Amino acid sequence: MMAARRFKIPRLAQAVLTVALIYAAFRVVFDIILGQPIPASLMTMYMFFVVSGVFMVFTFTEESTQELVAPIRALVEDPSKKLVRNIVFLIVPLAAAGLTYMKMLPDFAAPLELRTIHPAPPSSAELYGKRFDLLNLTNPFRKFEKADPEKFQQLVAEGGAVYMANCQYCHGDKLDGKGPYAAALNPTPLNFQDVGTIAQLQESFLFWRIATGGPGLPKEAAPWISSMPVWQQFLSEDEIWKVILFLYDYTGHRPRSWEHE
Ligand code: HEC
Repeated sequence: MMAARRFKIPRLAQAVLTVALIYAAFRVVFDIILGQPIPASLMTMYMFFVVSGVFMVFTFTEESTQELVAPIRALVEDPSKKLVRNIVFLIVPLAAAGLTYMKMLPDFAAPLELRTIHPAPPSSAELYGKRFDLLNLTNPFRKFEKADPEKFQQLVAEGGAVYMANCQYCHGDKLDGKGPYAAALNPTPLNFQDVGTIAQLQESFLFWRIATGGPGLPKEAAPWISSMPVWQQFLSEDEIWKVILFLYDYTGHRPRSWEHE
């Protein structure tokens, strides 16, 4: 009898072990078997019920309650446990302070979500109250580049005028994204000189992005508060196509097209 007694796991340790085992079981089931980790907030909720349940079972009778709290009571009251008591009473507040400090530290790391700077355009879009098939949409003025260079230069100049009246405040008079308003904006206006912007894009993409602006950005480009205006409210279709001609002409970039791929 005595021997068996000595090996009995204390009730408090049993309770802690039970909770730990259930936690481990949750992790195994969700992370490994289902392959779908559950959100921390949900886990906290589950564990709250688990701890409450275990507590209820372990304090079911007066006797079991006494057994459960015995080690805690001994730690606080037993004169022979003075050293352990002092250590515990030192470590617990220190650990709490440390954890709180870590939690409160501001986090300067970039947010985890990746932002898509050039989101995939929808295959069609509702612009100017019409449906546009973006996959087959081309710049109606592009053909004059070869057919009538003089007329083309005229169209580019008109696009330049649209640009200087509307766009340079943000995108800069050198199209380098350094307009007078740029410093105050986040995300910053795009630098069209950079090979990573319009040189990578099709004219139909630009048409869609200029017409719908920041509010037209699809979800994958969020979290983003883009200040890019919704130009279909201020410019005509032709003005947008002309300003696009100007963007490529001034920077010397070529629009991307399916034929060259
Ligand atoms: C109020 C400031 C502001 C003005 C004015 C403005 N833009 Fe923008 N524009 C932005 C910002 C900020 C971005 C980057 C965020 C985004 O893509 O929405 C942007 C992005 C763009 C893009 C997307 C390029 C890419 O690589 O995805 C195009 C094209 C563009 N602007 C063209 C124009 C044109 C053309 C005008 C004038 C008709 C104009 N913008 C006027 C702020 C502005």
